[in-house]
Amino acid sequence: MTIDSLPGSSGYLDSYPGRRITYFSNGYILGLTAVAGIGGLLFGYDTGVISGALLYIKDDFEVVGQSSFLQETIVSMALVGAMIGAAAGGWINDAYGRKKATLLADIVFTIGAIVMAAAPNPYVLIAGRLLVGLGVGVASVTAPVYIAEASPSEIRGGLVSTNVLMITGGQFLSYLVNLAFTEVPGTWRWMLGVSGVPSVIQFSLMLFLPESPRWLYLKGNKSQAISVLSKIYDPERLEDEIDQLAAAAEEERQRKNAVRYRDVFKSKEMRLAFLAGAGLQAFQQFTGINTVMYYSPTIVQMAGFRSNQLALLLSLIVAAMNAAGTIVGIYLIDHVGRRRLALSSLSGVFVSLVILSGSFYMHSSGSGSGLYGWLAVLGLALYIACFSPGMGPVPWAVNSEIYPEAYRGICGGMSATINWISNLIVAQSFLSVATAVGTGATFLILAGVAVVAFVFVIVFLPETKGLTFEEMDQLWKERARGHSRGEGLLEDQDDNEAQ
Ligand code: BGC
Repeated sequence: MTIDSLPGSSGYLDSYPGRRITYFSNGYILGLTAVAGIGGLLFGYDTGVISGALLYIKDDFEVVGQSSFLQETIVSMALVGAMIGAAAGGWINDAYGRKKATLLADIVFTIGAIVMAAAPNPYVLIAGRLLVGLGVGVASVTAPVYIAEASPSEIRGGLVSTNVLMITGGQFLSYLVNLAFTEVPGTWRWMLGVSGVPSVIQFSLMLFLPESPRWLYLKGNKSQAISVLSKIYDPERLEDEIDQLAAAAEEERQRKNAVRYRDVFKSKEMRLAFLAGAGLQAFQQFTGINTVMYYSPTIVQMAGFRSNQLALLLSLIVAAMNAAGTIVGIYLIDHVGRRRLALSSLSGVFVSLVILSGSFYMHSSGSGSGLYGWLAVLGLALYIACFSPGMGPVPWAVNSEIYPEAYRGICGGMSATINWISNLIVAQSFLSVATAVGTGATFLILAGVAVVAFVFVIVFLPETKGLTFEEMDQLWKERARGHSRGEGLLEDQDDNEAQ
């Protein structure tokens, strides 16, 4: 089989346009994505809900109100859990499959939600946050991989980005819930406990969904894999997809014999792939998304809106914009591609950070009348509009697709761990850096990071739009040999055919 004729590749789909699958044309794959995406919803909800809940936790537990250490621990324990969960989740994915990993995440998550809601003291609450974080971490690596492996390659980016839509949707929902529960007795217990509901729903629905067909096939469970694939593809394409999986299984078998976990990075292609994936995850966080979200009420107040209620409402609008932008990303990622989307996103992020920085400088120097406040709001809106379709979904999509089957879980897990570590570093250091050098300078540093990220993407991120998993393997091998895509792919094909 030549590369051009691989099912799902653009050459193949040009020859058989009728076999092309569109985002909305296959209800089964959309349903599977939606159920897996509940993992994203939990991710977004639990990282978003805590800032609001903390206000009320402080009222209930005096000791928390008096200790900023306890407050920080309550907030960041979920991030610590997510780091561990993502690393362990990667391994669980490879060893036991995507379905079991999801079910496990749901169990841990549900227990965590109950523990938090019932917590008699802050320490039990912290333990609950750790459990929920573990669940979120496992889900953050599992959902993208599970979705990617069931997806036809021409819509894979959009489907994996749908999980990111669930993240941003979950954050939006958490702000709404924060507003809704302010008057209800037990406030924070409801805010935190309610997240057990989606995990129970996901657990129940997941029992009826299959294991990832690629994982099944490559573990030797061919008939089950084929029965899943037959729900996604029409009979002609199904046959071609199975042929391709059979070839991939053979290659994996040889690879497995030769390489073990500790050898993951022995080959140059694996190092290159991991560098691209993990680098993107780090840059997603170091360009400051979570601080910009966190700072949105302050920015809005700078514009002259003093009331807390209004600031909360406006940050709800920011979260809604973030989710709406992700929908644009779902469309663009399979049309303009990952690279161009990331590059244009970063350019916009850079410009907005410079605007934000300028307005904070002017604010602190007391100049510019009320104008700087509006400039800051403009910077904020532009930032979200540029980040959300690109640097939000692209790192997750790329990491779900660039690694070979044998290491997809472990590498995806390690790079998700890097995302969580970076998230924690930025969250922990932002305030102290801002106090030390000023908020304007801090945003300027983030703008500098965006420039480095831009160069990084140009140098290290190949375009993977529409490529099949098999083409992806080929792509890294070529890059390891110093070819760029295009020249090498065809030469190798000729070589293979000649042998
Ligand atoms: C990131 C999260 C972030 C969210 C907000 C996601 O892609 O991984 O850390 O909070 O986007 O847009």
